[in-house]
Amino acid sequence: MPIGIIGAGAVGQALAGRFVAAGEQVVISNSRGPASLRDLAARTGPALRPATVGEAADQEIVVLAVPWRRLGEAVAAADVTDWQERIVVDTTNPLGPPDFRAADLGGRVSSEIVAGLVPGARLVKAFNTLPPDVLGADPLTPAGRRVIFLSGDHTRANERVARLARRVGWAATDLGRLADGGRLQQFPGGPLAALRLVMEP
Ligand SMILES: NC(=O)c1ccc[n+]([C@@H]2O[C@H](COP(=O)([O-])OP(=O)(O)OC[C@H]3O[C@@H](n4cnc5c(N)ncnc54)[C@H](OP(=O)(O)O)[C@@H]3O)[C@@H](O)[C@H]2O)c1
Repeated sequence: MPIGIIGAGAVGQALAGRFVAAGEQVVISNSRGPASLRDLAARTGPALRPATVGEAADQEIVVLAVPWRRLGEAVAAADVTDWQERIVVDTTNPLGPPDFRAADLGGRVSSEIVAGLVPGARLVKAFNTLPPDVLGADPLTPAGRRVIFLSGDHTRANERVARLARRVGWAATDLGRLADGGRLQQFPGGPLAALRLVMEP
């Protein structure tokens, strides 16, 4: 089954490119509709299909790659009545346009808030600690495999996303539950956020 991506900006495109390079099919969407993604599709090839937000959300794995303050709107556009059976991969960081001020999370981990927007989904926080140019680059560096972090409250969903990441070539590191691992990888503030690590062979 293809991987759905909601958000086709810097992060969405970086991930789409790596997934396609690893042999995955991708269904990708933005707020302006599939026609606006024609150039991206032409550059990437037939494994990437521009789609509506609803079609991207209709996959087993759905990656959220939209700005924090547009999450509610994007999830509403997905028009999903029951998120069960889906793994939602949260790449978001709780800041962004227009002012890039960190959101007030009331002491919660940002992905716990995102999980509340997609009730029933198994949420995995991943891919949020690296900038798009690094995410989009070959994960196999001369020094070793680039490390990506993930966390989530559903062990099998974490394993599923880790398997996908390892197929791409990343050294996927499962940090455990959102309350613990999510806090470690949270940006801003988490000690692992923005760390660029590679795992030696
Ligand atoms: N940039 C980084 O360094 C970085 C690193 C890791 C994680 N992140 C996180 O990743 C997320 C995406 O960041 P980005 O840098 O990729 O942002 P971006 O380049 O501004 O792209 C945002 C994408 O979200 C889409 N979008 C906005 N509202 C939408 C909606 N209602 N429905 C569907 N799509 C919608 C936009 O589509 P339109 O253009 O059509 O509106 C655009 O394709 C953010 O939460 C950010 O915090 C960023």
